[in-house]
Amino acid sequence: MSTARLTAAVSNCGGLGSFGAHQLSAEQIGPVAAEIRALTARPFALNLWVSTHDKGGDQVDAAEFERVWRLFEPWYRELGIDKPAPPARFHADFEVQFEALLAAQPAVFSFVFGVPRKPLLQECRRRGILTIGAATSIAEAQALDGAGVDAIVASGFEAGGHRPSFLARPEDSLMGTFALLPLVVDRVQVPVIAAGGIADRRGVHAALALGAQAAQIGTAFLACNESGASDAHRQILFSDAAQSTTLTRAFSGRLARGVRNHWTTEMASRINELPPFPVQSWFTGQMRAAAIAQGRTDLVSLWSGQIAPNLVHRSATDLMHSLTH
Ligand SMILES: Cc1cc2nc3c(=O)[nH]c(=O)nc-3n(C[C@H](O)[C@H](O)[C@H](O)COP(=O)(O)O)c2cc1C
Repeated sequence: MSTARLTAAVSNCGGLGSFGAHQLSAEQIGPVAAEIRALTARPFALNLWVSTHDKGGDQVDAAEFERVWRLFEPWYRELGIDKPAPPARFHADFEVQFEALLAAQPAVFSFVFGVPRKPLLQECRRRGILTIGAATSIAEAQALDGAGVDAIVASGFEAGGHRPSFLARPEDSLMGTFALLPLVVDRVQVPVIAAGGIADRRGVHAALALGAQAAQIGTAFLACNESGASDAHRQILFSDAAQSTTLTRAFSGRLARGVRNHWTTEMASRINELPPFPVQSWFTGQMRAAAIAQGRTDLVSLWSGQIAPNLVHRSATDLMHSLTH
């Protein structure tokens, strides 16, 4: 969903544009950073997922691949897609991606789903790359603070996309932004960034009033023309359908918030049959382009936070202007 254009637009307006790079191979990270630099001279962040495989998601034998294929087969047939061959890897390795990120030298390395090993954080510090980790609980914020990160995102469950919990199950770490934020602010040494449910100046002011040093916004930028969201997804974000979001494991195997659709409802009843992340993510990912091309928004992830019904702006520059003026 990230694009160089969106990242650069935010940075050019005085924000910290951020590019979610977890789905990129190590080889793709440098070129993306160069693309962003061609569009802005300002600082930007590259973001990675520290944990890239859940239990059982790193070893998928032929029998398990077949089992999962049978689960997906009716949908692939409906969309006219052939059975895919098992990939060499279902997801890139974080530390390999991290090496490429270091070489790309962004101003900021932000991450979710864990705490990188100490030497990696030290290497960032040595190179002058600031680090930002995300927490969904007091314990996670304290773990990040103890590891010496430069700032912590307090991520409330209103947020669109994945719940980045890493110490307890995300289902057991569901705190709203404005409960989590002051709990974290009062317990860590470093600046805290509020995330989840913020889309206008009121939200930013409320976050600052509770002790945040900054606000992190996702859904409102996702809805802008500069994002990588499909036109249909964008249209849904501006429709009444966005009033009904749900936390679901149906698309990736990890808990994430998006607009309720046929896939989230269908998979909710079959949740125990789904493979773990990143296998589920890979199988739904193979369907995505065909489903979008065929207008099947009932089958694809429509990531959205709970604030979507209040979205106004379709240009990231306009949105940034409304937030800062
Ligand atoms: C489609 C989508 C993808 C996201 N991907 C990432 C990601 O890869 N890494 C990350 O740190 N945050 C990611 N986020 C979370 C945002 O950084 C941000 O914390 C969140 O969207 C804030 O809540 P809001 O959606 O209510 O604005 C994503 C959010 C969305 C909507």
